[in-house]
Amino acid sequence: MGFPSWLCLCLHLFIILGICVASPLGDQKRDRITELPGQPKNVGFAQYSGYVTVNKESGRALFYWLTEASTNRGPKSRPLLLWLNGGPGCSSIAYGASEEIGPFRIRPDGTSLYSNPYAWNKLANILFLDSPAGVGFSYTNKTSDLFTMGDRRTAEDAYAFLVNWFERFPQYRHREFYIAGESYAGHFVPQLAQIIYQKSKGIKNPVINFKGFMVGNAVTDDYHDYIGTFEYWWTHGLISDSTYRMLRKACTSGSSLHPTVQCMEALRVAVLEQGNIDPYSIYTRPCNNTAPLRHGLRGRYPWMSRAYDPCTERFADLYFNRPEVQKALHANTTGMNYSWKSCSDIVGNYWADSPLSMLPIYRELIQAGLRIWVFSGDTDAVVPVTATRYSIDALTLPTIVNWYPWNDNGKVGGWSQVYKGLTLVTVTGAGHEVPLHKPRQAFILLRSFLENKSMPS
Ligand SMILES: *[C@@H]1O[C@H](CO)[C@@H](O)[C@H](O)[C@H]1NC(C)=O
Ligand SMILES: *[C@@H]1O[C@H](CO)[C@@H](O)[C@H](O)[C@H]1NC(C)=O
Ligand SMILES: *[C@@H]1O[C@H](CO)[C@@H](O)[C@H](O)[C@H]1NC(C)=O
Ligand SMILES: *[C@@H]1O[C@H](CO)[C@@H](O)[C@H](O)[C@H]1NC(C)=O
Ligand SMILES: *[C@@H]1O[C@H](CO)[C@@H](O)[C@H](O)[C@H]1NC(C)=O
Repeated sequence: MGFPSWLCLCLHLFIILGICVASPLGDQKRDRITELPGQPKNVGFAQYSGYVTVNKESGRALFYWLTEASTNRGPKSRPLLLWLNGGPGCSSIAYGASEEIGPFRIRPDGTSLYSNPYAWNKLANILFLDSPAGVGFSYTNKTSDLFTMGDRRTAEDAYAFLVNWFERFPQYRHREFYIAGESYAGHFVPQLAQIIYQKSKGIKNPVINFKGFMVGNAVTDDYHDYIGTFEYWWTHGLISDSTYRMLRKACTSGSSLHPTVQCMEALRVAVLEQGNIDPYSIYTRPCNNTAPLRHGLRGRYPWMSRAYDPCTERFADLYFNRPEVQKALHANTTGMNYSWKSCSDIVGNYWADSPLSMLPIYRELIQAGLRIWVFSGDTDAVVPVTATRYSIDALTLPTIVNWYPWNDNGKVGGWSQVYKGLTLVTVTGAGHEVPLHKPRQAFILLRSFLENKSMPS
């Protein structure tokens, strides 16, 4: 036998492949974070961040930050989880990464970081994405884009991001992949999930090995969300009987993102009656310093457009506006002419399309057999547990395990119900951002979700 022809073929393939992947791998290497200013020493995991172009014509690029699982926890065998925040218009770096599930929290001085003991990268490789363009460090070179963002373009750009990101990170191709998010990401997550599902349907061993998603305090179905929200306000003694009646009459048939004038008026009265509470966490004190933001009714109801706005947000403002932090993150490479903000008012205020209901997508994806979990912190008044229960109930799914208390260290951590195709979990005492208020319980939630096990009873 002479020189085997398969070896020759392999060599050829090797050279061709080598040329094809040389550039993406180079990009990956360039995105590696050496160290963030003020970060703890010897963190024991790798981080990458940078831009992925999602639209060449307009010059839209999305910013990501990957925090891999700790090297002693076998990052190569761990799944990949994409985390999205809502708004619309709020940054996943500002919220998800910096005050919820990320490995670091920012100290009040805005210059140093400390470790989060319940960071989700102990269980999975976590990918944070600022979405859509115009949010956080993600940008567009076409200013008019900012005034025309909406659900559809957000999902399309996020899908384009993923396709390009998997080119740059070939080691994650075919890896178990999940998406999670909260609040208005109750739209982004199922919408992106639907695109991934439809594009990879029928493909054997798809690059994006999508297994399922999880959403928390998620905007799901405007009609049922409204009914449940107003009921929560009334049953928690936050509004008067007359305002409760007025809200039900003026709002329930409309869109939560684009309410009618009558509905806005009813909401204005409700906000006045509620007073200076933190609607995202009704039993904790509100932050003094964000008062102007919170109460500056920017022409429309502020709650739905904003994520949680505690004082910690100011720490992120200080930290991410520092030039040396932006340099270490490979962020703002084009020198944007505005400063970094946790939520973009322009993107949020000019939001275009926002479908009334995600339930049709749920029906399709439940049918597809994806793993779907819905969780809810039960002290949130913005997208309350009652809103989520009415929305899920509208799916009329058969019950597998009826409502039961789940256990956290001998105490009730919340309640859960397992439906055919969907698991509902509440976290008691948690506000809108469950991992911020109840980090350990949120960690148990992620572990159960990834292991496909119901919450411990
Ligand atoms: C946006 O414009 C800047 C400056 O011209 C350029 O360097 C950058 O590559 C553009 N971004 C995209 C995504 O095209
Ligand atoms: C809020 O701010 C005022 C004055 O700035 C201060 O006196 C008060 O103690 C602060 N309240 C809380 C709860 O931090
Ligand atoms: C930033 O630059 C864009 C494009 O040149 C321009 O349209 C916009 O008005 C500028 N914004 C600010 C805040 O200066
Ligand atoms: C980007 O960098 C410029 C300085 O080059 C700075 O003025 C601006 O605030 C930064 N913007 C963002 C969004 O990081
Ligand atoms: C997850 O668990 C459910 C119920 O126990 C089971 O029907 C399903 O097949 C499991 N899925 C996977 C991917 O293991």
